[in-house]
Amino acid sequence: MKDFKGKVAFITGGASGAGLGQAKVFSEAGCKVVIADIRQDHIDEAMAYFTSKKADVHAVRLDLTDRKAYAAAADEVERVYGSPPQLLINTAGVNTFGPAEASTFEDYDWVIGVCLGGVINGMVTFVPRMIKAGKGGHIATTSSWGGFMGFANDAPYAAAKAAVNNLMESYYLALKPYGIGVSVLCPTNIRSNIAEAIYTRPKQLESTGYNANEKTVDFLRSIHAQGMDPVELAGWLKRGIENEQLYILPFTNAEQTLKDNFQRVLDFSTPEGTKRQDELAKKRQAERANISDPYQSTDSGWGKARPDLTWVNESARAKK
Ligand SMILES: NC(=O)c1ccc[n+]([C@@H]2O[C@H](COP(=O)([O-])OP(=O)(O)OC[C@H]3O[C@@H](n4cnc5c(N)ncnc54)[C@H](O)[C@@H]3O)[C@@H](O)[C@H]2O)c1
Repeated sequence: MKDFKGKVAFITGGASGAGLGQAKVFSEAGCKVVIADIRQDHIDEAMAYFTSKKADVHAVRLDLTDRKAYAAAADEVERVYGSPPQLLINTAGVNTFGPAEASTFEDYDWVIGVCLGGVINGMVTFVPRMIKAGKGGHIATTSSWGGFMGFANDAPYAAAKAAVNNLMESYYLALKPYGIGVSVLCPTNIRSNIAEAIYTRPKQLESTGYNANEKTVDFLRSIHAQGMDPVELAGWLKRGIENEQLYILPFTNAEQTLKDNFQRVLDFSTPEGTKRQDELAKKRQAERANISDPYQSTDSGWGKARPDLTWVNESARAKK
């Protein structure tokens, strides 16, 4: 897709962070934008901005894990703008950190429910509507660099994002005959509000094995304050969509980073390679001891197990 003028864009998580950056960029490019988000305060702030710019933006309060509500939101888009979106951007996501071995079912159900289930709900809701409308279009999903590897402290998220990458590749192949392009954006750190994700965690999924509280939220805020500007990130996405790229890797050394990543996969498939990777991990650990690494040096309790899970061996984990 190269011409965005007059196109309807539906952006989940569009009221904050990466999604808000996308809403700004695609609105400026001429789209009629629908932002869908679970947080009313984020929606109010975003709409105050778009109203001040006299931009054609419509907001929908939506929990994208609720399939009925998602269908109602899709009906609302057709009522307001007369057609389903030509540009669907699945960006809403959540995260919470703690030892994989401490994870509860609810940690998985929440993170995978939003980060993977929410994308699936977007695809199943909108793809048939987009095909029937016969206008082609583009679908982009915000995944993460974290989808290319595992993390001892972020298992549900890494699993969801890896699945999202493959899901988008599947749709890339499937939707070509309909003139619908598909992309997956894989950023690293973004200047966003994702540190506050635990505030949207539903009551019925509140049981966690992780240490997650105001202190860990504050620590994460300080990390994300150093991330990429969401409008700059949305610029990468727009160029990737214009070029019809499946993978959009928004950093300059992407080729080498990906080569290193796939070397890691190859290494872990042989005994010699596994030894090499274990040595590399030790080397990185030693290097980190000599630099000020905020993840290592934080005393916020970030990335640790819920304090009563005394069987989690935090000192052995710290040496990994
Ligand atoms: N922040 C980072 O460093 C980073 C890095 C890589 C990828 N990402 C991904 O970027 C995407 C956007 O996150 P962000 O960093 O901009 O965070 P953010 O919290 O600023 O924005 C995400 C928005 O999604 C909304 N949301 C959460 N759960 C929802 C639900 N169930 N239904 C509807 N909306 C919901 C939140 O209210 C929020 O407004 C996510 O998919 C995230 O995984 C973030």
